[in-house]
Amino acid sequence: MTSNKKIRVCVAGATGWAGSELCRGIVSTKDLELVSAVSRTNANKDLNELLNLSSKQKIPVFGTIEEALTIPCDVLVDYTKPDIAKHQIITAIHKGVNVVVGTSGLSDADYEDIKLIAEQKKQAVLAVGNFAISVVLLNKFAEMAARFMPQWEIIDYASDKKIDSPSGSALELAHRLSKVRESVKTIPIEETKGVKGTRGADINGMQVHAVRLPGFIISLETIFGMTDEKLIIKHEAGGSAKPYVQGALLAIRKVDSFIGLKRGLDNIMDFN
Ligand SMILES: NC(=O)c1ccc[n+]([C@@H]2O[C@H](COP(=O)([O-])OP(=O)(O)OC[C@H]3O[C@@H](n4cnc5c(N)ncnc54)[C@H](OP(=O)(O)O)[C@@H]3O)[C@@H](O)[C@H]2O)c1
Repeated sequence: MTSNKKIRVCVAGATGWAGSELCRGIVSTKDLELVSAVSRTNANKDLNELLNLSSKQKIPVFGTIEEALTIPCDVLVDYTKPDIAKHQIITAIHKGVNVVVGTSGLSDADYEDIKLIAEQKKQAVLAVGNFAISVVLLNKFAEMAARFMPQWEIIDYASDKKIDSPSGSALELAHRLSKVRESVKTIPIEETKGVKGTRGADINGMQVHAVRLPGFIISLETIFGMTDEKLIIKHEAGGSAKPYVQGALLAIRKVDSFIGLKRGLDNIMDFN
C-alpha cells in the first residue's frame, strides 16, 4: 500500500489457535484494520467481543467466505484447514482480494491451480508454511552455509504428542537445502555397520532425525560439520502462537507487491 489508507483484512479461521493470535496482532497495529472474520461455529457474533480485542468497532464474524467478502477488504488471511482453504483462496481472488495463506497441507497441484487463477485475475497469493521469523532466517542461513560446508544433518524436535514426523518445517528445510547441493556422506548409509536406522532417514539426500519427547515443544536444528569445526543453526519456539504473528503481519503488508503466487516469506523480505 502506498497511501496512508489502512490495509483492510479479513481473517478466515479467526477463532483458531493461530488465527486468534494474529487478530490480536492486527488490531494492535496502526496500518492494518480487521474488518471481518470467518468461523462457522461463531457466525453472527462480534469478534471484538469474542476475543476481547481492543478494536473500537464491531468485527462481524461470518459462517462462509462468500458472506465475509461482502465487507470490502484488501487481504484475506486463511488460517483454516486444507480441505476448505483452496475454495476460500480462489473465492477471494475472484473478488479482487489478495490472499496470505497460513494454512498448511495444500498440495503442489493445488498451488498450480491457485497460481494460474491469481495470474489471470492479476491478484497476489503469498503462501507461507511457517511465519516464524527465526524459521525463515534458519532456512536462509542454512542455505548460505550449505554453499560453503558440504556436510550437514537436520534434527527436528517436538513433543511426544506430535503425530507427524518429520515436521513440515523440517521437510521444507530439506527441500530447500537439496536445491543448494546434496550433503556429502563420508560413509554411505548402506555401508554403515550396526542399526542403519540410527543414522536417521534420507530425505532429499540428507539425514533427518526426529526426536519426539515430553518436555519438547518445537525446535529445528541444522548441524554443519567440517574437520575440527561445527556450525549449529537452531530455531526454538514456545507453546504460544505468538512466533507466527510478526511474519504474518509482514506478509499482509507486502502481498500487494507482486502478481501471481509466491511461496515462502523470504520472497518478500529485503535481505540487503
Ligand atoms: N504458517 C504458519 O506459520 C502456521 C502457524 C500455525 C498454524 N498453521 C496452520 O494453520 C492452520 C490452522 O491452525 P490452527 O492451529 O489455528 O487450527 P485451529 O485452532 O483448529 O483453528 C482452525 C480455524 O479454522 C476455522 N475453520 C475450520 N474449518 C473451517 C471451515 N470448513 N470453514 C471455515 N472455517 C473453518 C475454525 O473455526 P470453525 O470451526 O468455527 O469454523 C477455526 O477458527 C493449520 O493448517 C496449521 O497447520 C500455520
